[in-house]
Amino acid sequence: MPEEITGGSDPKRKLRVYVATFGCQMNEYDSQVAGGLLKAEGFEIMGDGPEGDSPQKRGQSPDVVLMNTCSVREHAEDRVYGRLGMLGKAKKENPNLIIGLMGCMVEEHREKLFRRFPQLDLMVGTRNIKELPSLIEEVRRTRQQTSRIKQDGISIEYTDLIHRTSRYHAWLPIMTGCNKVCTFCIVPITRGAEVSMPAREVYREASRLVNEGVKWITLLGQNVNSYDGLPAARHSEEPRRGDEESRRSFGPSGLRMTEHGRVSFPELLEMLCQIPDLERISFTTSHPSDATEELFQVIARNPKISRRFHLPLQSGSDRILKRMKRLHTYEDYKKKIDRLREIVPDISITTDIIAGFSGEAAEDHEATRRALEEIRYDGAYIFKYSPRPGTPAAKLPDDVSLAVKEQRNRELLILQKEIRGEKNRAWLAQTVEVFVEDRSAKREEELLGHTLQEKKVVFGGPEGLLGSFQHVTLVEVKDETFRGVIS
Ligand code: 5AD
Ligand code: SF4
Repeated sequence: MPEEITGGSDPKRKLRVYVATFGCQMNEYDSQVAGGLLKAEGFEIMGDGPEGDSPQKRGQSPDVVLMNTCSVREHAEDRVYGRLGMLGKAKKENPNLIIGLMGCMVEEHREKLFRRFPQLDLMVGTRNIKELPSLIEEVRRTRQQTSRIKQDGISIEYTDLIHRTSRYHAWLPIMTGCNKVCTFCIVPITRGAEVSMPAREVYREASRLVNEGVKWITLLGQNVNSYDGLPAARHSEEPRRGDEESRRSFGPSGLRMTEHGRVSFPELLEMLCQIPDLERISFTTSHPSDATEELFQVIARNPKISRRFHLPLQSGSDRILKRMKRLHTYEDYKKKIDRLREIVPDISITTDIIAGFSGEAAEDHEATRRALEEIRYDGAYIFKYSPRPGTPAAKLPDDVSLAVKEQRNRELLILQKEIRGEKNRAWLAQTVEVFVEDRSAKREEELLGHTLQEKKVVFGGPEGLLGSFQHVTLVEVKDETFRGVIS
C-alpha cells in the first residue's frame, strides 16, 4: 500500500482531489484514469463525474481541484475561465488550495495560462497523466507553478487502477489525434496526428475489462474509422510488416489483417466481437470518408455491435462542406447513409451540425435544414460556429452574426427535436432487448438501461438484474428517455 497523502489542518486526513470533467468521452476516460492513479497513491477522490456535481454539495472542500478541459468550442473554454476566476477567489480564503488543468486547453495554450491565471498551480498534458500524483506533490513542496506537457507518444493510458463509474460499461480509447484537416477544428492542434494503440494491446485491455465484469465497451477515438493498429505490442519497434509469417502468426482466432500487415478498424471490431463475455461494442467518432462498405458489412454480421452510428455531417451545403474541407459532398454522405440503412435496417444514426460557419448564406442553412428533413436522424448535436485560434478557418471571416447563428441554431434544434420525437414514438409498444446498467439516478427503485440503438430506458425491476439483458416493452417517451415495462 502506498502511503496516504495527507493535508489540511488534520495531518491524518487524506488529501481530497476534485476532478471536474468538461468535453468529450475521451476526457471522461482520462479523468477516470487520473482518479484511479491518484486514489492508488493515497488521495481521496471527491468527484470525477460530469462537471455539474459540485464538491461543495457534499459539504467538504477539496485540497486540489483538477479541471479536465476541452477546446473544441469557445464556450467550453469560457466555462473553464469562469471557474478559474471563482477558484481564484476561493484560493484567497484557502491559500493551500491547488488548482490544476488537464486536457486539450493545456495542449493548446500551454504555459501561457500561468501568466494569465496566477492562481493556477499545475498543468498536465494529455500524455502525462501518469505523473499527476508526483506533480501534485511537487506543487505542495515547491509552491511553484508546475507543468508537464509531453509532445510525443500516445495519449492513451491503460491501467487497471482506473476509477470507473460503471461496473458494466467501460470506455476504451483505441486511437487519438486526427489527420483530417477540417478547417473549423482544433483537434489536430490539441491532440496532434493520429496514433493508434496496437491491436494486441486493445484486445488485451478489452479482455481485462471483461474479466472485471464489464459487458459493454465503447471504443473511443477522434476518428476511429482510420484506426490502423499494429498487431505487435510496441509501435516504435514495429515497422509496416508485409511478411506472410507475421500476418498468419497474430490473432486470437485467425484474424485477418490489411495488406501491409496492420489491423484496420473493421478487423479490430471483428476481433473484439470474439471475446466471449463481451456483450456489446460501440464506437465513436467516425468520419464519412473513412466509413466504408467493409465497416457496414462488419456491423451487419455482428449482432454484438451497437446499432447506433454517429456520423457527423456538419453542413448540408456542398459549398460550406468544401470550405470546411470535409472531403465529401452531401450526395456522397447521403449515399453512405442509404447503404448503411439498406444493410443494417435497425441502425440509428446521429450527427453533428455546425450552424453559422464562415460564409454560410441563407441558402446554405436551408440546405442543412433539408438534409435534416431528408436523413431524419435519431439525434443531432447542433453547435453554433466559434472560430478556434490557430485553425485554418480562423483566417476566414466570422461573418455570420451571433444573432443569425442563434436563430439558425434554434431553427435546426426545433426541427430535429420534432424528427427525434417522431422517430422515438415509432418505437412505442415494441419489446426490445435492454442492457441493464445501473439504478436510475432520479428514482432509486428504478433501473436504467440502453437498447441496442443506445436509447435510454428506465423501468421498474430488482437490483439483481443489473448487468443483464432484459426484454422491455417501451410504453412512453419523454425527450430522450423511454419508460418501459419488463415483459
Ligand atoms: N465551432 C463549433 N462547433 C465545432 N465543432 C468542432 N469545432 C467547432 C467549432 N470551431 C463541433 C463539430 C464536431 C463536434 C465535436 O464539435 O460538429 O463534430
Ligand atoms: Fe476535427 Fe475533422 Fe478530425 Fe473530426 S475529423 S477531429 S472534425 S479535424
